[in-house]
Amino acid sequence: MFINNQIFAAPLAGITDKPFRRIIRQFAPDVSLVTEMISCHSLVGQHKNCIRNFDNYSDEGNIGTQIFGAEPELMGMAAKILQDAGAKWIDINMGCPVPKVATRAGAGAFLMKDHKLAGKIIEECVKSVQIPVSIKTRLGWDEAHKDWKDLVHVAKESGASFVALHGRTRAQGYNGQSQFEPISDMPLPIIANGDIQTTEDIEHVEKLGYSGAMIGRAMLGKPWLFGQICGNCGEIKNVGEIVLEHLNLVLEYYGTKAGVPMFRKHLAWYSSGMPNSAQFRIKINQITDEKELINSIKEFWHID
Ligand SMILES: Cc1cc2nc3c(=O)[nH]c(=O)nc-3n(C[C@H](O)[C@H](O)[C@H](O)COP(=O)(O)O)c2cc1C
Repeated sequence: MFINNQIFAAPLAGITDKPFRRIIRQFAPDVSLVTEMISCHSLVGQHKNCIRNFDNYSDEGNIGTQIFGAEPELMGMAAKILQDAGAKWIDINMGCPVPKVATRAGAGAFLMKDHKLAGKIIEECVKSVQIPVSIKTRLGWDEAHKDWKDLVHVAKESGASFVALHGRTRAQGYNGQSQFEPISDMPLPIIANGDIQTTEDIEHVEKLGYSGAMIGRAMLGKPWLFGQICGNCGEIKNVGEIVLEHLNLVLEYYGTKAGVPMFRKHLAWYSSGMPNSAQFRIKINQITDEKELINSIKEFWHID
């Protein structure tokens, strides 16, 4: 099977922040991580309200930092900032379907419609850094325009090192099943992404000729999944302890006021499928106090 660094934790906005990545790392020291997408404007402007603009990545192992934007020069500047902050590679978002990114900003998935601009952005990023540059994209804009292979060639000519491919079109959003076309004659390594959850799924895409597998939603509430896939850890006995540690990191990073409400979604994922999880979610959604939240977590997971 793929070796550890060929297994990727996908970028998930609002989820794969520094606290969550630190939890994943405890179980999987060698998998490849990708940050949430960061706007090149926000990075270059060093906007204070966006805390991740100031992250340092030097202690995060093999980590790619993802940027989005439509202006080649700004994207190059953002790439350089991230390289200086310790990123091991730069990933360019060419798949985000959210209107704010893809239509209003002409970035993300929009770049699947404008390969010329996509090429310029890649070239500018490659020119600005000494670390590898990758792109993350989808099969195409819609069913009638599944031209990802053309974009891979553009990426190669522009100096990119690899491509992560989500097996859906922009029009599909997250609907339907991700499609994995067999890989042959591609000029760059292609990392498969979309609905991958198990070792069997990973073996399937490996057989199809992909060079790695990227896992997104399957890690929600299961940050140890990567450790299990890579054989670093077995069954997890005390989920509550992990939850408390994750909460601590979130509170440290965001502070109580923002951190407590932000952690609710993680609690919903961690508790999913457990007895009384619905009541637990209702309860924690009302809590704003840090100590009260900690006590509720201890009670739910039976920690003294
Ligand atoms: C909540 C959420 C946030 C996401 N944020 C990003 C992002 O910041 N950058 C990106 O390239 N893709 C993002 N994606 C797409 C995922 O990286 C991934 O391509 C998609 O979820 C399919 O993989 P999966 O089935 O393994 O989750 C996001 C998806 C979700 C559900």
